[in-house]
Amino acid sequence: MRDATPTVIRREDYTAPAFWIRSVDLTFELDPAKTLVINRMQVERNEAVPPAPLRLHGEDLNLTRVLVNGESVSFRHEDGLLVIDSLQGVPPGPFLLEIRNTCCPEKNTRLSGLYTSGNGFFTQCEAEGFRRITYFLDRPDVMAVYTVTLRANKAAYPVLLSNGNLVEQGDLEDGLNGPRHYAKWHDPFPKPSYLFALVAADLVAREQHIRTRAGKNHLLQVWVRRGDLDKTEHAMQSLIASVVWDEARFKLALDLERFMIVAVEDFNMGAMENKGLNIFNTKYVLASPATATDENYAGIESVVGHEYFHNWTGNRITCRDWFQLSLKEGLTVFRDQEFSMDMSGSPAPEDGATPVIGARAVRRIEDVRRLREVQFPEDAGPMAHPVRPDSYVEINNFYTTTVYEKGAEVVRMMNTLVGREGFARGMSLYFERHDGQAVTCDDFAQAIADANPGSALARALAQFKRWYSQAGTPKLTARGRYDPPTRTYTLGLEQAAGRADALGQQPFVIPLAIGLVGRDGQALPLQLEDEPPTSATQRVLVLEEARSFFTFINVDSEPVPSLLRGFSAPVQLVDGLVDADLLVLLQHDPDPFNRWEAAQRLAMNRLLAVVRDGAPDELDAPFIAAMRSVLRHAELDPAFKELVLTLPSEAYIAEQLVPAPVDPQRIYAARRSMLAQLARALRADWEWAFDAHQIVGAYTPDPLSAGKRALANRALAMLCLDAAALGEAVWPGRAFQRFKDAGNMTDRLGALSALVNSNAELAEPALTRFHELFRHEALVIDNWFALQATAPETDGRVFERAKRLLRHPDFSLRNPNRARSLLQALCAGNPSAFHRADGAGYAFWADRVLELDAINPQLASRMARIADRWAQLDEPYRGAARAAVARVAAKADLSNDVREIVTHALES
Ligand code: PHE
Ligand code: ZN
Repeated sequence: MRDATPTVIRREDYTAPAFWIRSVDLTFELDPAKTLVINRMQVERNEAVPPAPLRLHGEDLNLTRVLVNGESVSFRHEDGLLVIDSLQGVPPGPFLLEIRNTCCPEKNTRLSGLYTSGNGFFTQCEAEGFRRITYFLDRPDVMAVYTVTLRANKAAYPVLLSNGNLVEQGDLEDGLNGPRHYAKWHDPFPKPSYLFALVAADLVAREQHIRTRAGKNHLLQVWVRRGDLDKTEHAMQSLIASVVWDEARFKLALDLERFMIVAVEDFNMGAMENKGLNIFNTKYVLASPATATDENYAGIESVVGHEYFHNWTGNRITCRDWFQLSLKEGLTVFRDQEFSMDMSGSPAPEDGATPVIGARAVRRIEDVRRLREVQFPEDAGPMAHPVRPDSYVEINNFYTTTVYEKGAEVVRMMNTLVGREGFARGMSLYFERHDGQAVTCDDFAQAIADANPGSALARALAQFKRWYSQAGTPKLTARGRYDPPTRTYTLGLEQAAGRADALGQQPFVIPLAIGLVGRDGQALPLQLEDEPPTSATQRVLVLEEARSFFTFINVDSEPVPSLLRGFSAPVQLVDGLVDADLLVLLQHDPDPFNRWEAAQRLAMNRLLAVVRDGAPDELDAPFIAAMRSVLRHAELDPAFKELVLTLPSEAYIAEQLVPAPVDPQRIYAARRSMLAQLARALRADWEWAFDAHQIVGAYTPDPLSAGKRALANRALAMLCLDAAALGEAVWPGRAFQRFKDAGNMTDRLGALSALVNSNAELAEPALTRFHELFRHEALVIDNWFALQATAPETDGRVFERAKRLLRHPDFSLRNPNRARSLLQALCAGNPSAFHRADGAGYAFWADRVLELDAINPQLASRMARIADRWAQLDEPYRGAARAAVARVAAKADLSNDVREIVTHALES
């Protein structure tokens, strides 16, 4: 578990297992201090590989018995494995292996394996948690049919759940603590151990029966603690929508009689797709208008969808080994993104057409923003790895934004290259070929290509797959030249590896969606030389070479190129557009993504001029006018306006400065000044926006209402900021009033953060009142901690407050949501408070990482990643940050999880 020399696992070392486990019969005597596990396996030698001893994984277990066909056998422990030598070369055919062991759920603070949370038992087995429950071939290519019997005290654990179907339940004789009972579950689908789950707790369920298109009846359940039932409606609606959507879009129907979601307070991640028994972080289940924000509602819809879609992409077809993680995650993120877009109310455009500006486009912008703010830095930093990694020390460290979000972009590019219909055909072929198997990313790409012979994907498949094997964000440089006499426009495109250490990388296949926009705003037809005239104003160019040229003919005047529409590939685009071009695109680009991007670029150019070149920070009139015209626009969607008027984040600005040294305080100051100027210059417009986007009537989380609330709250924040600068009291007063009267959490939290972020005097009484009101709502209190930890720093007060909050009676490092709410918020979400010249922020970070590592290495390791970019910092930050990382690395008994992260960080 805490190896002296952590082993590196390599993709190229994959070999098939020496044995198969065909079925498992598990019996649990559940007890928080000592749970007994009786594990009866039907095992068989894998005759396709040379004979070898049986080596089973096991971790933190007490072994009490090993029997083969009822007879005891000798065994030994080697490198944390249980080895049975006598099974080497057993005759073909199945044998029964029975193992008994105990484990201690209440001491399991890692939240991997079987653990207690509140008064219940829960499991988390992905990636390698099953081995913390019993001895097993804990690898995804070993798929077995599970039968599970749970035995427990009836009063304390009235609900006993596992995967599949309930086959039997009843009472047992009394135990020491009173009556006991049991339940027996059977899951007919063979599955890898990482999809096993059990729950034993005092829970209640919202239930819904549905009938699928095939005419089959299914029972859907959302299980929560007593008292939370009224917060499950949105999760249930999201689940029903997911079932309907997957059947409609991909013809993938629910294959189980019963589908359960269980919410648990202590959970390391968002949720887990265990077959038929999804286990969720409460954050992605519980919502009511009074306690959850629009963002929370959207998060629930997307995560419920994600886990449900895994039932096919992940569970029916699973991963051969953990290097293939993106096979299920990239594809399932793509699917949940499409689901959220389809649910947003605006229809999907035809292949090749630009979407209208609406909720669908807003979702895409949000997804890309996250990709560029989190994944691009990962791809440029010490933890950079291909979508299909080549090696790891701790697999938990590879549940990354590269595997998930960049993986989804890779799937999205395939979708672009073969078209929406072609992609659906590819999915059908994938299931025809591989249903019930554990496969690789290659198998997936092959199926999509084979279903679309003649497509660009099929033609260049081997080259396309470099997206799986080459790390780093490629840089795409574009130069356009208009030639008036011939009325031609030539676009030169050059791709290069984004990482300095990526020399020798081969060119990628890049689908580049483009349009040409006339200076008068007209979308121009895109006719390449040697082509007949066309009326198409958008098309996808497929780049395969390091350099390519495209010449458009019959172009009447010099256009503005609108490249990488909809962010059609995960690249860094350098197009050389100047302000005048960007202003044309901001006003006229039919592509919503590029329209938003134009505004971001205009803002970014100004921010970089101040931070990098020391330019004066006064905003120019054209920029202000452009922002005003978006804000006041008669037709644009409010959510879209809000995104345009949100300045690039400090972290994203920092990444644009690299390789120049990054001074976080300068970035903070420049951004803050720009905000203040926009607040002042657009004062009347913000007042209008606030008033014009009030919603009367009951709360609904639909995208249009959510967009109006987002814009009104943005306006309120700007108005409070301006009031603070002027020493006025009216808007803070109105914010306080709104905070008190708000009918929903989005508006309440919006008003509260307007007060906190503008340092208003009323922030203190509002925070106190907020805590008072919601002290029994854990998820709301998380937001209360986070809000205080992300307040803009003034004289070190925010940092001091965060330190004080560590000792708040409601704070705990043991609950991952709570730990994140304070620590991530401060260290990753508040550069102005975290990056201190005295290095105290980094020392605080190191202390917390070490503290957490002793409790929950997975969580500690995620915290550790905050320091990834230390080497990019300017002095005095750099030296102090490095010292903090080195201090963590110097700890002798660090987990492999944190060790892997800080080792990479120090090498950068
Ligand atoms: N497989 C889960 C998902 O993506 C994430 C997860 C990984 C949860 C590991 C827990 C542990 O939906
Ligand atoms: Zn997933």
